Amino acid sequence: MAKPKVFVSRIIPAAGLDKIKAECDVDLWTEQMPPPYEVLTERVQGVDGLLCLLTDRIDPALMDAAGPQLKVISQMAVGYDNIDIPAAAERNIPVGNTPGVLTEATADLTFALLLAAARRIVEGVQYIKDGKWKTWEPETLLGADLSGATLGIVGLGRIGKAVAQRASGFEMNLIAYDRSATAEQAAELGIRLVEFDELLAESDFVSLHTPLTEETRHLMNAETLGKMKSTAVLVNTARGPIVDPDALYDALKDGTIAYAALDVTEPEPIAPDHRLLSLPNLTVVPHIGSASVRTRNRMAEIAADNLLAGLRGDPLPHQVKP
Ligand code: DGY
Repeated sequence: MAKPKVFVSRIIPAAGLDKIKAECDVDLWTEQMPPPYEVLTERVQGVDGLLCLLTDRIDPALMDAAGPQLKVISQMAVGYDNIDIPAAAERNIPVGNTPGVLTEATADLTFALLLAAARRIVEGVQYIKDGKWKTWEPETLLGADLSGATLGIVGLGRIGKAVAQRASGFEMNLIAYDRSATAEQAAELGIRLVEFDELLAESDFVSLHTPLTEETRHLMNAETLGKMKSTAVLVNTARGPIVDPDALYDALKDGTIAYAALDVTEPEPIAPDHRLLSLPNLTVVPHIGSASVRTRNRMAEIAADNLLAGLRGDPLPHQVKP
């Protein structure tokens, strides 16, 4: 019997790719850059399954270009704002994602950014490279303490909760804004649920853990940044467009907030000459929240399992709810 045809839009860890190769006729995109939309549209024609990444736009036209035999779309990421989920549901195409396995890695990176911002790690490294480190100095590169500081978590899903667990270990006060969480659930983690404005006003650190939706696009804008403490730090390991980059630039430049540490940007990637990068009170890393060896292997395995289940017509182990 002929093997199912699949398109895999980038080289993914062998833990997943080898499983797919064993059962499918694989068309693999091997370049570093994602396939341009037009190329992707051509390459998916006639495939039974598509394994994609968050850098691929999967819209109704692309699904139609693939054809009615397309049985499954499997995304190697937990977020899926690049995929038109209602359009897939209308076409009876299940969409898989990779929740759970990247929670700890993303929470670790969030905390790395938070600590780097609080203790001015990036500035310290630059200080040495600039030849400024002459002696131990009583008042140079003084940062903020974490213990006793208030962390405001926006979005109390898996990653938000994992960040809270880490923050408890650092003896931070925890508050969160999440419209679907209950006060009881939050209290179990030592978190007090508050309204969004209250979170902005009270937090020394604000960490974003909400999906990107039309509602959360530019949630952090001139108005909301203006409600934060002037000493506060903003951390974003969720999705770049949750923060308005122009408003963030102004807020960092004029001291509305003290610092921002980002794993995600708008646009992504951020250009090396983007004006945000000229600011001393900003640290950016290139969307590496889930980038640990174990996590990426597990993501690849789950993406493969979702793809293969969909090709067999079985329920996906991790299916996005339409
Ligand atoms: C995701 O999975 O959505 C992350 O942004 C990348 O791992």
